[in-house]
Amino acid sequence: MNRKSFLNLSARAGLFLGLSPIITSCKDSNVADKDEVNELLLKSKATGSVVNLKTEPISKVRVGMIGMGNRGSVLIQMFEYLIKNDFAEIVALSDLKEDKLQKNNAYLKTIQTKEAKLYFGGEDEWKKVAERDDIDLLIIATPWKWHAEMAIYGMEQGKHVACEVPIAYTLEDCWKLIETAERTQKHCMTMENCCFNGEELWVLNMVDKGVFGDLNHAEGAYIHDLRKHMLDDVYYEDQWRIKHHQERNGNFYTTHGLGPISFYMDIGRGDNYDHLVSMSSREQSLSKAAKAHNSKFTNFACGDMNTTLIRTKKGKSIMLQFDVHTGRPYSRLNTLTGTKAVHQGYPSRLFIDEPELKYWGHNWLKEEEYKNYREKYDHPLWNKLKTQIDANAVGHGGMDFVMIYRLIRCLNKGVPLDINLYDGILWSAITPLSEMSVANESASTKVPDFTGGTWKTPRKAEVLRDI
Ligand SMILES: NC(=O)c1ccc[n+]([C@@H]2O[C@H](COP(=O)([O-])OP(=O)(O)OC[C@H]3O[C@@H](n4cnc5c(N)ncnc54)[C@H](O)[C@@H]3O)[C@@H](O)[C@H]2O)c1
Repeated sequence: MNRKSFLNLSARAGLFLGLSPIITSCKDSNVADKDEVNELLLKSKATGSVVNLKTEPISKVRVGMIGMGNRGSVLIQMFEYLIKNDFAEIVALSDLKEDKLQKNNAYLKTIQTKEAKLYFGGEDEWKKVAERDDIDLLIIATPWKWHAEMAIYGMEQGKHVACEVPIAYTLEDCWKLIETAERTQKHCMTMENCCFNGEELWVLNMVDKGVFGDLNHAEGAYIHDLRKHMLDDVYYEDQWRIKHHQERNGNFYTTHGLGPISFYMDIGRGDNYDHLVSMSSREQSLSKAAKAHNSKFTNFACGDMNTTLIRTKKGKSIMLQFDVHTGRPYSRLNTLTGTKAVHQGYPSRLFIDEPELKYWGHNWLKEEEYKNYREKYDHPLWNKLKTQIDANAVGHGGMDFVMIYRLIRCLNKGVPLDINLYDGILWSAITPLSEMSVANESASTKVPDFTGGTWKTPRKAEVLRDI
């Protein structure tokens, strides 16, 4: 991204805050740019009024789903148990394409007797789903450019919203979502499924039980070779995903890494992100693959690897990486270091520091010892839901089921959701902030307080509750 794009990006952030776009006239000095941008960004309008949002219990949650592509087709399968137990029903489905709807509807008929209404054929047909008066929850699994608009419209129509990741990728949309949710008092959850994975919940449970001591550092990532899918003509509808890689440079997929880490580190619950620096490598791998496959896509702006460093208000550090261009094994890193223990994922390993030993240990726990920790500290949710998790392995080994189960059960009971509005906005906002830092020679960039100051009140991650 060049300086002009950076200034546009910054101007958009300022414009929404109702301030004059002074950034467009700023001087050549990077330091001046940075300070002015930071000043604009820090003017939060959030009140924090939905941080512990409790809503009327809904005995059977009536669901409308928008976007029935790869992701929507998996999410709908997570509903079988909930439908059969009368906790939820699916009322309407929407997509641009009729064939995708018919395929999903054929599946739905195998798990639900009531017929769902189908909306397709036009870019705005989804609005009819949001406008129905027999829907409580709108689930959005469309390309990124639609997320904020659909979520905002849904809340304006009196619906709770759960949206795929990232819920927004401009700061302007982040603030709009906050303003709408706080005004309408509706739930607006970012569906960050990795927060519900067995390994991440186990680590969170160990953090809660003090196994890690005080936390100082974590590393997360979305390292996933997506070249094949992005270059494929049909995998993503209208090849929406690769276009972002032509236009932008930064970390586009922050939430899989940041969601679990933020829960470990009490982000929004006693700590908050303070500032970040972000750097992208040059781009080579996607271009090479595109050329080899005679793709019409060329000139990619996004570097192969983006690395973003975040420091929290309480002095913890986070390294977050994003690479979907390079041929390499999948990883979310899932590294956590505390004063008493260290965890690294891919594969999962645990180190327990025992300073009372005569020597300082350098080895990961042996298999047997690791297993003992795994059994002792497994999050109770994964035991409680074992049968359903096994039956729903198609949803990333069960974490998608746990996420949907918790969302619906929280709505059934009228209790705050595990992932609140501010969590998802904060994790998603790291995308535009990383882009700004990258475009400004990795300048230090302040992270706005999206929570209206409510982050200062310590509390446990809600996913640790039994509901
Ligand atoms: N959390 C996860 O593990 C996970 C995994 C995969 C994808 N995702 C997210 O899910 C979302 C969708 O990704 P995907 O892989 O399913 O993409 P996709 O292209 O397969 O599906 C998107 C669907 O949305 C439909 N759509 C587009 N515009 C629409 C409109 N105006 N109205 C109605 N439908 C519309 C398309 O026709 C398509 O079927 C993305 O945000 C992605 O990041 C998350």
